[in-house]
Amino acid sequence: MRQLILQKLVEHPGKAVSGEALAHLTGLSRVAIWKHVEALKQAGYNITGIRGQGYILRDWQNVIDSDRIQMLLNTRNLGDRIYHVNETKSTNTTARQMILEQQVPEGTVIIAARQTGGRGRQGRKWHSPVGGLWFSVVLFPRLELQRAALLSLVMAVAVARGLEKWTENSCQIKWPNDIFINGHKVGGILLELSGELDGLHSLIVGVGINVNNSVNNFSSDLRNIGTSLVDETGSTLDLNEVIVSVIESMEKYYDSFLKGDDNLIMDEFRELCLHLGKEISIDLGGHLVKGVNTGIDINGSLLVDDGMTEHSITTGDVHLI
Ligand code: BTN
Repeated sequence: MRQLILQKLVEHPGKAVSGEALAHLTGLSRVAIWKHVEALKQAGYNITGIRGQGYILRDWQNVIDSDRIQMLLNTRNLGDRIYHVNETKSTNTTARQMILEQQVPEGTVIIAARQTGGRGRQGRKWHSPVGGLWFSVVLFPRLELQRAALLSLVMAVAVARGLEKWTENSCQIKWPNDIFINGHKVGGILLELSGELDGLHSLIVGVGINVNNSVNNFSSDLRNIGTSLVDETGSTLDLNEVIVSVIESMEKYYDSFLKGDDNLIMDEFRELCLHLGKEISIDLGGHLVKGVNTGIDINGSLLVDDGMTEHSITTGDVHLI
């Protein structure tokens, strides 16, 4: 019922919805409506009650609400359990702790409104203020470790496709899993695996997407290379609606991968790839390889032809020349 009330208010942002209309919609008394509205306020929503007019909802887009996400979500099991915290160091670290300390079902999602020690690939920091989407998904795929490398591309395709609805199909991928719009990075993925030689035990997929956190508030070193959905689309988006599209897409591509449909993933990756057929350089920890990116192989490695040799690269940072 509470979600029904909220949905009605979301559909009329900044406008008064009468207690009577809400009572009619839900079949509840106006006192019961008032109680639900108070609970929504407790959950962080900015709702003003005006006597004789009704309830007005404002600035709801950055309120992460696991009940709302679950109401909107249409998945098999991804997001069946959602843990939401206002602040944590890193949702990947929280997810790891949870796996060590308790039974965590596959598909569990951990979301934080902000991270104080967000982590990026290659030991970098990940700036994670309120307004962005910072979350981790816990998976337990039964796989050989060798096949796990492809998961990086699977998740990149999934996130890029999941954001299409909000970006008029303008997302691209920089290998292995940076999400770009108009030449600027809007999101990234940090995959953390644990396993032994016999195979993978757990996988934490950490996803960071700049949504309503505008580049105007980025540090000067990030301002020229990064972007956010609000900067690209001009609209403040509902974080809950954005995460729903991304999670649904993650499940879709993850299922294809588990079924062995690697060709679908590879084809989509190639279609979305920012630098396929282009001249790139890639830093392999001090040793620079320059050449044309001729493709991606079935293990997810990047193929770079320097005119003499075709290199198969498993890790590094791509730069467009
Ligand atoms: C990158 O592009 O370097 C990857 C960035 C990944 C950031 C996300 S935010 C949620 C999760 N928790 C973290 O500490 N990192 C990932």
